Amino acid sequence: MNDITLLRTVEQVRKLVDRWRTAGMRIGLVPTMGALHQGHLSLVSIAIGEADRVIVSIFVNPAQFGSGEDLSSYPSTFDEDLMKLDEAGAHCLFFPSVDEIYPFGFSTSVHVSGLTENLCGKYRPGHFDGVATVCAILFGIVRPDIAFFGEKDAQQLAVIRRMVDDLNLGVLVHAGETIREPDGLAMSSRNSYLNPEERKQSAAISRSFSRAAELVAEGERNAGRICGAVREVIGNAPLATIQYLELVDPDTLKHVEKLKAPALLAIAVYFGHTRLIDNIVLKP
Ligand code: PAF
Repeated sequence: MNDITLLRTVEQVRKLVDRWRTAGMRIGLVPTMGALHQGHLSLVSIAIGEADRVIVSIFVNPAQFGSGEDLSSYPSTFDEDLMKLDEAGAHCLFFPSVDEIYPFGFSTSVHVSGLTENLCGKYRPGHFDGVATVCAILFGIVRPDIAFFGEKDAQQLAVIRRMVDDLNLGVLVHAGETIREPDGLAMSSRNSYLNPEERKQSAAISRSFSRAAELVAEGERNAGRICGAVREVIGNAPLATIQYLELVDPDTLKHVEKLKAPALLAIAVYFGHTRLIDNIVLKP
């Protein structure tokens, strides 16, 4: 072990962060739900480069899970997570209880409209309210100078940026690029749900993105034809069921019909019971 500090309460975090801030330190926050992988650790590593002190939070936020979703089975690897964060050089792990984040009487919800109705929002009603609310709470507790989120969750990133701007939270939002397995599958804590055959077939997502990028490089600009080619590649993976596939503006998340500026190709695909999301920015 190096010297990571493990804290469980808001009061403890406030005290530590106040000391850091008084010493003129720049504070970085990496919010996570644990089951840490290389994607999270790359955010920690960027955070260490950008901030003097880095707090990672692990909190499996009940408010962002719908009924019938995987809240009760969400992977939990606390001991490994603590070790990985210590090795990565994070200074503090904030691991609060549900009551610490949502004390008795809690009654606030943050809703970002316009960005939360389509893509994942259409299939996970209330999910982004849960995400925005918990991030607002974590920002209020830590008051970080910078917070770090992965580009894999592109809609989440857009929602958090909007919230931070609209509420003048004074937090700089830094996006870290998606980290992929050697076969192209985007790293995600939920990949651990895949059985070996589903895992093998899930590489179809990134193959389909390569096909989309290839088409765009050849001059294709029509969203329907680009998405059609993606569906065709994913169709070769018999265990895959596409939930949504859409080309959207990266900031507004509005549907794009013709690729005239960089656009986000966003997808959610089921492999068996496991829902994976991924995206790529296509540049004309
Ligand atoms: O991306 C996640 O892990 C979660 O949505 C986040 C940002 C930690 C909020 O619970």
